[in-house]
Amino acid sequence: MIVLALETSCDETAVAILRNSELLATEVASQIAEHEKFGGVVPEVASRNHLVHAPRLLERAAKAAKIEMADIDAFAATSGPGLASSLMIGASVAKGLAIGFDKPYLAINHLEGHLLSPFFGSDTGILPVSIDKHSLEGCATIEPNVSLVVSGGHTMSIFVRGVGDYQVIGRTVDDAAGEAFDKVAKMLGLGYPGGPEIEKVARQGDPTRFDLPRSMLDSDNFSFSGLKTAVRYLLPKIGVVSTGDAAGKMPAIQFRDDSVISDLCASFQQAVVDVLVRKTIAAAQKCSVDLVTVSGGVSCNGALRRQLRQACDGAGFEFKSAEPWLCTDNAAMIAFAASLRWQAGFESKVAEEIDPNLALA
Ligand code: KG4
Ligand code: ZN
Repeated sequence: MIVLALETSCDETAVAILRNSELLATEVASQIAEHEKFGGVVPEVASRNHLVHAPRLLERAAKAAKIEMADIDAFAATSGPGLASSLMIGASVAKGLAIGFDKPYLAINHLEGHLLSPFFGSDTGILPVSIDKHSLEGCATIEPNVSLVVSGGHTMSIFVRGVGDYQVIGRTVDDAAGEAFDKVAKMLGLGYPGGPEIEKVARQGDPTRFDLPRSMLDSDNFSFSGLKTAVRYLLPKIGVVSTGDAAGKMPAIQFRDDSVISDLCASFQQAVVDVLVRKTIAAAQKCSVDLVTVSGGVSCNGALRRQLRQACDGAGFEFKSAEPWLCTDNAAMIAFAASLRWQAGFESKVAEEIDPNLALA
């Protein structure tokens, strides 16, 4: 069985081809450079870039996989949640191919792609030398788990009973964790996306120096806007904030010494990690599962991976994280989810519309 998937929910155009348990091709065209100057994703720019990149990536993926489009058994695409004008491109291409080659179409929820990704490939945590050959052998069984999905658009804890059987336990009531990283990085004059930039600077920092809030600790839900505001109010007290220039460039900030910015990044990162770890463990205890998983862009963060693994060890849970290359948006996770859904008997109608607010459950 060969599945081709497209992922265009936000600012990455991605195509992947999966044959049974073998990933034949995975192509991602990042648009970071196009959006960086705006400090965030501009939907109109993103959809225009998807239109340019998608046909090239399809051709490249087929070439890398050494197959013809006619050999594909099913076409899949992310159908939500995400930016409407971006989702439309990938879904239209997949539907067109499905109709043209008279093959099934599978509409995949982006969050399902993330939450199943820890089951893709090995869970050794070792980055493969080449991402061309991932074996899914023995990994396609989805054990019940509590899944933390943390990305730029979402922060959710989910009780996963099996493929297609999900119950949302908690979600953010305001900013997503990745969004908080991105906004704080912007305030600090660091680059976009902010998560990796903050993590880099935080490595030299003292996470206990600044006492930042951990919000809504008694709730299943998450909130990160108070933390972001706390950083904003702290800035004038510890640094000099300029407003940036009219071209929308990042504000330039001067600190009295370098340790201030690294301590601030480390303290901010620790506040986010504390909340994510604590609530995930509480959700796992509530759902009586044996396994905790983490996925999504923010799960690239080393401090989060380390501390969540330690907390799981301490509380007696098994822990699985998506491999780092699978954490940020990609089409391999969509192809994997499509393949599992197909095996479980799901199929979509080509008339099915994309849904920017597509619910998981
Ligand atoms: O999953 P993803 O690629 O896109 C969405 O579905 O949103 O996640 C992107 C997010 C961005 O907010 C980015 O800042 C964050 O993931 N991110 C990180 C790290 N790498 C990416 N956040 C914290 N630490 C990282 N190392
Ligand atoms: Zn994502």
